[in-house]
Amino acid sequence: MKKDLLVLGIETSCDETAAAVIQNGTKIVSNVVASQIESHKRFGGVVPELASRHHVEQITIVIEAAMEEAGITFQDLDAIAVTEGPGLVGALLVGVNAAKALAFANGLPLVGVHHIAGHIYANRLESEMKFPLLALVVSGGHTELVLMKGHAEFEVIGETRDDAAGEAYDKVARTLGLPYPGGPQIDRLAHEGEANIDLPRSWLEGSYDFSFSGLKSAVINTLHNAEQRGETIKPEDMAASFQQSVIDVLVSKTLEAVHEFNVKEVLVAGGVAANKGLRAALKTAFLELPEVELSIPPIRLCTDNAAMIGACGTVLFEKGKRSALDLNADPGLEMDNF
Ligand code: KG4
Ligand code: ZN
Repeated sequence: MKKDLLVLGIETSCDETAAAVIQNGTKIVSNVVASQIESHKRFGGVVPELASRHHVEQITIVIEAAMEEAGITFQDLDAIAVTEGPGLVGALLVGVNAAKALAFANGLPLVGVHHIAGHIYANRLESEMKFPLLALVVSGGHTELVLMKGHAEFEVIGETRDDAAGEAYDKVARTLGLPYPGGPQIDRLAHEGEANIDLPRSWLEGSYDFSFSGLKSAVINTLHNAEQRGETIKPEDMAASFQQSVIDVLVSKTLEAVHEFNVKEVLVAGGVAANKGLRAALKTAFLELPEVELSIPPIRLCTDNAAMIGACGTVLFEKGKRSALDLNADPGLEMDNF
């Protein structure tokens, strides 16, 4: 019988310090996430220097907790996987250095993982991937459509030309006076309002690229004009209208790509995949396409975590990827050739 593969995943690219132990790339043995959201909230966004400092304070505790929860020692591990990029460089470096030190001290292979590839692999913790597949990646820093013909083969067929979907959510939320992170706040308000405000949808016909900055500006201008006229716009209605515009574009572009590339499955990944409106709209749209499977991870696996890094790292490890002990953090790491 083949021995189980155990991989420790480490993630520190933004504002969560996380470690997890994954078995055979598909099963979560332990999963620990220390969120810094409360610290960044009073500044209205992530403060990079503060993020690095929190990671330094938390990293050892979080890794020890993940190992303890899994009930294993470092001798039981087969590899250590860590997010090498993209993300905040000072934040990434904390995880990368912790992983390098542990790999060296315990004689374990080190595997660098692309953060967005990790988000995609969160889906494999729920069910096996069916290729060819299309991943709709919607996070705070990225909005991408990624075509995968096999494990760890990532072809970016479309991406945002300006703001990422999550970034637009956070900026619009700030304009509406909502706390950071704004995505969940807008999602909540949207369900209490009506999408009755006319906002643009950026189709960028003939390409799978996205653009959300025009929509963001339209929200700001509409609110500003109303204020000058002494009119009030219900924040619930603005949230619902904004969310509808984002969802319309995300769902339509995904469906277009599904048809062109004849995929067997669509995976949704990244923090915005937690959005209730988007989840519902995709589920409804895919009722018409019973031959294509739709996979959306549970909310706790949509936002940043290390289980997804362990899951992706296991596949890379099995494919023979080994990172050297001089692995560096790469804040602008590309997915096509990492
Ligand atoms: O993937 P993630 O945790 O971090 C990055 O890799 O960027 O994504 C964070 C983003 C934030 O912009 C946050 O506002 C957004 O995901 N987000 C949501 C929701 N939950 C988190 N956006 C819309 N609706 C949500 N329910
Ligand atoms: Zn992320």
